Amino acid sequence: MQRRSTERDFSGYNAAQAERPVRPLARAAVSLALEGHRAAGQVPGALGSAPAPVALELGSGAGVEARFLAENGFQVHSYDVDPSVASTFVELARSLPISHTTTDLAQVEAFPAADLVISCATLPFVRRDAFPVLWNRIRDALRPGGILAVDLFGDRDDWAGTDGTFLARDEVEQLLRCADVLELVEEEREGRSFSGPKHWHTYRVLARRI
Ligand SMILES: C[S@@+](CC[C@H](N)C(=O)[O-])C[C@H]1O[C@@H](n2cnc3c(N)ncnc32)[C@H](O)[C@@H]1O
Repeated sequence: MQRRSTERDFSGYNAAQAERPVRPLARAAVSLALEGHRAAGQVPGALGSAPAPVALELGSGAGVEARFLAENGFQVHSYDVDPSVASTFVELARSLPISHTTTDLAQVEAFPAADLVISCATLPFVRRDAFPVLWNRIRDALRPGGILAVDLFGDRDDWAGTDGTFLARDEVEQLLRCADVLELVEEEREGRSFSGPKHWHTYRVLARRI
């Protein structure tokens, strides 16, 4: 097992993702965020209307979800530490409102204000010592009423004990005190990862910023 996130083959993983369908978490998050935006009387793209809603994608990987967000009317700011995906984002940015940054999320000092923050299978790879500050920055970026859609990993996951962030349920609940929790699904199962068989312990979170 890799003990450090830097030893993981993220570029190999991302290269294998380009053709997969959009993740259900992203579909659900977009529906909720657009619903909120419309309820506030803001119609993305309408003439003379408010500016497009803003989405942050943390750990964008191959760009599947970033494309989906932009095609649904969001101005997207995406981030990923893997330099191999940068050229894909240069291509996407030619026709879609996506601005991409190659960085370790722990190094981002502030994020743009956002109506939606999405992070699929990425936050657990942020170093545990950097996670609390990153979480506060995410919380601060999310506008009241904004949607938070993230995967977190649990403390019984096979990768717990590496340098990432693996959380007990009460820690997840503490993190979500800043939000109305719409969905918190905890799962444990035997399955596979890109690097082989694995016991997964995950939380899928959908929440609305208070
Ligand atoms: C399991 S992949 C998920 C990618 C994509 N969200 C998806 O659902 O396919 C994890 C992603 O997080 C990125 N990543 C890992 N640690 C990171 C960090 N500390 N800062 C920024 N990105 C990171 C990796 O490069 C990779 O693209």
